[in-house]
Amino acid sequence: MDSTNQLLKPVTAKINDAGNLEIGGCDVVALAEKYETPLYVLDEQTIRGVCRDYKEAFKAYPKINMMFASKALCTMATSKLLFDEGFGFDVVSSGEIYTVYKAGIDMSSVLFNGNNKSFDELTLAVEFGVGRISVDNFFELSLLNEIASSRHKIVDILLRITPGIECHTHEYIQTGHLDSKFGFDLTQIDEAVELILNEYKNLKLHGLHAHIGSQIFETSVYGDEIEILVKEVARIDEKFGLKLDEINVGGGLGVKYTEDDCPPSVYAIADIIIKRLTSCIKKYNIDAPSLFIEPGRSIISTAGVTLYTVGSSKQVPKGKKYIAVDGGMADNPRPSMYRAKYIAQIANKKEVSSLNTVTIAGRFCESGDILIKDISLPEPEEGDILCVFNTGAYNYSMASNYNRVPKAAMVLVNNSQSDMIVKRETLEDLISHDVIPDRLKEK
Ligand code: LLP
Repeated sequence: MDSTNQLLKPVTAKINDAGNLEIGGCDVVALAEKYETPLYVLDEQTIRGVCRDYKEAFKAYPKINMMFASKALCTMATSKLLFDEGFGFDVVSSGEIYTVYKAGIDMSSVLFNGNNKSFDELTLAVEFGVGRISVDNFFELSLLNEIASSRHKIVDILLRITPGIECHTHEYIQTGHLDSKFGFDLTQIDEAVELILNEYKNLKLHGLHAHIGSQIFETSVYGDEIEILVKEVARIDEKFGLKLDEINVGGGLGVKYTEDDCPPSVYAIADIIIKRLTSCIKKYNIDAPSLFIEPGRSIISTAGVTLYTVGSSKQVPKGKKYIAVDGGMADNPRPSMYRAKYIAQIANKKEVSSLNTVTIAGRFCESGDILIKDISLPEPEEGDILCVFNTGAYNYSMASNYNRVPKAAMVLVNNSQSDMIVKRETLEDLISHDVIPDRLKEK
């Protein structure tokens, strides 16, 4: 069965009677006018659709816990929406912890990840009663035990391990291969378990956690990952008599940014995970563990688009035609960081037969700030609204204020209604943390 992560555009995207692009029943040209650009737009129906795909696909394994990877997009409104759809949260900083807490999320459904969590962050997690902390290294084991014991608490943990699996994705978003900064190497697990059992009495180990990478198109890597996790669970039981009842396979399922991308469906991934888990449970003779998954991109990417207004253009003599928009690498750093590719459409123009090849340039002061190279579009003109698709994940969450440009606003659309869920930053916001020391003022 197909799932939403395999689509190029939000499920509700269509051309309306006015000839404009419409998403969630809202004319995006009108949205651009109302909220200004650049504007992140999220389609609620697409988000809820993919959440239901996940629930449906994994229902064959009843002990499933779905955690949304907040790093893909962390706002109070989206956290609330995803919690209502039955998701918990994988968080990686006090900022993400605080956001989900303020959104009213039950903190027992939150899992804290990260390779260098600070004393303050771990303290906040313990005080807020975060459900699980995935401990990444020896330093953190000791630090967390100290924090837990000073508060007379037992903290529930997983161990993040490096399974040694290479997946074919961009080097920067591979994480499960052996030479990785994340997690305990397989050869270090025993020492960690011994420390937990014998010294770190304020830590309770529930299971193992791994994450192999992001924007993954292969399904077999998940089977390999399960095999390693279950084998380790069985080995730990045999060696230490410790029964671990949770395994967390991380996230990573890819999405379709361009026609060339063919991500597997949520159903295909669930199928391989459940089948392999079921067979490994038998093979290694363990009790069926609770299964945690942490999808980020595949939940939120397709639902999001970014609207820009076309400004200047430049025809390089005998070269490219550059069309500049009012955003770029600060609202979407992925093309410049990962050479990520996107598709786009002029929202106020029907696709016509006479298309031109143009390059969409951002407005930031860097030659590398190119959003899309060589795309065929109806001749873009000043004032046109350009819609870039599949920007729901890792765009707003990685946005910056480069060139001191205020961050864009975000709206959630559904059934012809639009609601602002992140306000546009103002110039005052930009300087609100600046301080001029008195000794400079006196001059
Ligand atoms: N769990 C862990 C432990 C992770 O490190 C990640 C992503 C996820 C889950 C969610 O993975 P997803 O389902 O979203 O692939 N900034 C990069 C992506 C970095 C992903 C980091 N970890 C990008 O824009 O492509």
